[in-house]
Amino acid sequence: MTERKRVAILISGRGSNMSALIAAAAEPDYPAEVVLVLSDRPDAGGLVLAAEAGIATIAIDRKAHAGKAAFEAAMSVALDGAGIEIVCLAGFMRLLSADFVARWHDRLINIHPSILPAFRGIDTHERALAAGVRLHGCTVHFVRAEVDDGPIIVQAAVPVRGGDTVDALAGRVLTAEHRIYPLALALVASGRARVEGSHVVVDAEPLQAAEPLIVPRFPDRQ
Ligand code: GRF
Repeated sequence: MTERKRVAILISGRGSNMSALIAAAAEPDYPAEVVLVLSDRPDAGGLVLAAEAGIATIAIDRKAHAGKAAFEAAMSVALDGAGIEIVCLAGFMRLLSADFVARWHDRLINIHPSILPAFRGIDTHERALAAGVRLHGCTVHFVRAEVDDGPIIVQAAVPVRGGDTVDALAGRVLTAEHRIYPLALALVASGRARVEGSHVVVDAEPLQAAEPLIVPRFPDRQ
């Protein structure tokens, strides 16, 4: 296998998507290795999970830095020092500057708990229930300067059921998140997902029939 891409995961909280990525990357044939987990909050629960998994961790406290530029400069020192090639945002609750995003153009990906471009921003599950949608889900996308914007790599849809609570729906979406984020990172790290204009073209065998609701764009379906 060609060399595995060196990945950093940026978190602010519990880190369940981070754990899904670490578990996937533990497989020897996975095309990426998680070498660093970085949190803007020293108390993020995910830092403990990452350390238990044997991954290097660093907390760069946003509050300890005078401004966004200083905070992002500290993050860049950590990322460059670890030789990071791809950055995964996984519940990282800071808006990144256009400069930072540009520096990681097409090497910075995010997971968002909705089927973008629907429900950008926060409280996506509440808003999906309020809108009465029948399908909800999640998206992994390349990051652009606009919030929750950028070429879509993989999406998953889940049904919204009668009587769903926010927690029930969030849990159903989270299960899908844990499946599509490792898939999307594998596509990016292996070079099988490439950006063409504002879209991602995926060069891969169609997924197994067991994954009917996971929908990357394949060349033969455009
Ligand atoms: C996930 O729902 C993710 O989509 C969103 O923030 C949440 C993070 O959860 N961006 P976790 O920390 O990965 O458990």
